[in-house]
Amino acid sequence: MPILFTISCSSEDTELPKDIYSFEKPENFPEPTYTFENNPVTKEGFELGRKLFFDPLLSRDNSISCNNCHQQSRAFADSPLHPTSIGIENRMGTRNAPALANMAFLPEFFWDGGVTHLDFVPINAIESEVEMDNELANVISKLNGHSEYPTLFQRTFGIDSITSPFMLHALSQFTNMMISANSPYDKYVRAEGSVLSTQELEGLALFEANCSECHSGELFSDFSYRNNGLNDSFTDLGRGCITESENDHGKFRVPSLRNSELTAPYMHNARFNTLEEVLDHYDNGIKDSPTLDPLFRDEENVKGISLTDDEKTKIIAFIKTLTDREFTSNPIFRNNE
Ligand code: HEC
Ligand code: HEC
Repeated sequence: MPILFTISCSSEDTELPKDIYSFEKPENFPEPTYTFENNPVTKEGFELGRKLFFDPLLSRDNSISCNNCHQQSRAFADSPLHPTSIGIENRMGTRNAPALANMAFLPEFFWDGGVTHLDFVPINAIESEVEMDNELANVISKLNGHSEYPTLFQRTFGIDSITSPFMLHALSQFTNMMISANSPYDKYVRAEGSVLSTQELEGLALFEANCSECHSGELFSDFSYRNNGLNDSFTDLGRGCITESENDHGKFRVPSLRNSELTAPYMHNARFNTLEEVLDHYDNGIKDSPTLDPLFRDEENVKGISLTDDEKTKIIAFIKTLTDREFTSNPIFRNNE
């Protein structure tokens, strides 16, 4: 008896079905955009990526890990105590850290689409002065001099010396597996026994009529860059920073609304603290500017999305059906060091 107990305790993973470490597209999702043929997910690679994700070694002074700004209980968005992100030496970023769910399906990354491949995202975090303030080469030399990493990289990728593409691949294996597709809404659309209430279904219909032009499809975004009327002049040019076109000033990527219940505050600049405030904004807070989305215009006049309090309550009830507690409590995403 005691022997059996020790075995099952020390190799907990073997009790779980093995395929929890391979990427599977949820039935109701579109095809992934990630180039899995160059970097298929393996158990070793996923676990190595997880170790890196939680390791402050990536930052210049060993103080900040990816997890500091991307927390599982918030669907890997930041804590509400950090409306815009806080990096090394408490330096303040200017944007709200997005949730990291379903990264394998995104065509581009960041609020402005400034990064076009998931593998390159960590370079920005590592080298950003307000995030980790480090240099990629420095991270690689720290990893090569580490007591555990060289063995782990050798076991995962069969390499004798760690180089940055392998580190980036390991991190992507971890973030690619952050699939959130088991909300009550998903189980409802896949007919897996979940039933939505009348209020939630009315919310869904209102959402489709008023919001799905931009928050479309199963990821609740068409991944276009739009100005939804937060400001009449811009300190952050958004998409305009990337294209350098005035027509893109103040446009930001339409965010997914999966797990929005858990990811307050909202918008790139963390303007709103609650979903009620977001709906009040669409109803009566839209600000005019030359790049305001045409959907918020009627001839020359600015027009919000007119909603009664009852309709707002229903839409919010629907948004909450997109909360996936299996994702936010899945033990495979926890730091197991
Ligand atoms: C100091 C806070 C901070 C740290 C540390 C940090 N991030 Fe982020 N992350 C952000 C912010 C803010 C953004 C949005 C940046 C933008 O839009 O300009 C972001 C964006 C992302 C995105 C793109 C999400 C999307 O929807 O486009 C991914 C993926 C990501 N981070 C992964 C990581 C990984 C992996 C690490 C560790 C190597 C990391 N982050 C470290 C704050 C942080
Ligand atoms: C014209 C396109 C468009 C329409 C219509 C639209 N949205 Fe948005 N939505 C956006 C954009 C763009 C953003 C991000 C803006 C930013 O951060 O600058 C956004 C952000 C949000 C956010 C914040 C998400 C986050 O993680 O920060 C919520 C919630 C939201 N919208 C809900 C709705 C609801 C509910 C409706 C319908 C009543 C709606 N939207 C209609 C384009 C749109």
